Amino acid sequence: MLRVEHLTKRFGGLIAVNDVTFDVARGQVVSIVGPNGAGKTTLFNLITGIAKPDAGKVTFDGGDITGFEPHRLAQMGIGRTFQNIRLFSHLNALENVMIGRVARTRSGVLDAMRCSALDRRERTEMVESAEALLDWVGVGANRFRLPAELPYGDQRRVEIARALALEPKLLILDEPTAGMVAREAHEVIHLIGRLREAGVTLMLIEHNMNVVMAASDHVVVISFGQKIAEGTPAEIRADERVIEAYLGVDEDDAVGATTP
Ligand SMILES: Nc1ncnc2c1ncn2[C@@H]1O[C@H](COP(=O)(O)OP(=O)(O)OP(=O)(O)O)[C@@H](O)[C@H]1O
Ligand SMILES: [Mg+2]
Repeated sequence: MLRVEHLTKRFGGLIAVNDVTFDVARGQVVSIVGPNGAGKTTLFNLITGIAKPDAGKVTFDGGDITGFEPHRLAQMGIGRTFQNIRLFSHLNALENVMIGRVARTRSGVLDAMRCSALDRRERTEMVESAEALLDWVGVGANRFRLPAELPYGDQRRVEIARALALEPKLLILDEPTAGMVAREAHEVIHLIGRLREAGVTLMLIEHNMNVVMAASDHVVVISFGQKIAEGTPAEIRADERVIEAYLGVDEDDAVGATTP
């Protein structure tokens, strides 16, 4: 579904992403792991159009999407969440999710001014689908609350619901369990499993190795901008280079851990 080839991004003298190549197969959960500053978020930004690569190619569903604008990629079916939650603070949970739906509507300003049937139908549909998504991620009861009134885990879930409102084929989650306690992290593992069952292909950046091991089909390890290993969770767990670069930290410390 997604192919990343020789992707490279420089910030001045720093090569944040250096010649990275990997594939994401349809229906899989692919985790990107690596130390802080390894280039993981930059890699996601290159795939989702937030940053433009200096070299390399990104292919989605067989078409070249290198350097496409974020809104175009969203319309093509690439949804994402952010490492630092980006919800609209003055909108409640329901409204935040409805925003995610706007890219999917067809009626325009004129339809709204005329109170056209299309516009009314789409508004009703937008509310109903946003409510259904919030129920699905488990925040339905809190739908009228502002983000600041919600626990951290719920804020992340609202962000996931907003990304799902786009009906993405590929959903990209940047540290979905950051700042969560172990119980909340387990709920995210469960949610990822349900997304997978619903047919969504997923990519995630994740520091919690329990989540990586439990939730992914394939793991790509990045260190200093370069891919140093990839394979199944079991293969990665046993890989010497990975243990040295990343897992060297006592793994028990990572149980239910937040971002180091
Ligand atoms: N816009 C930018 N301008 C300059 N340097 C940047 C920019 N974005 C990222 N960097 C640098 O690129 C490197 C990779 O950063 P990135 O955020 O991609 O790492 P990361 O793997 O997501 O780290 P973390 O685990 O801490 O989130 C870092 O050295 C960072 O300081
Ligand atoms: Mg990051």
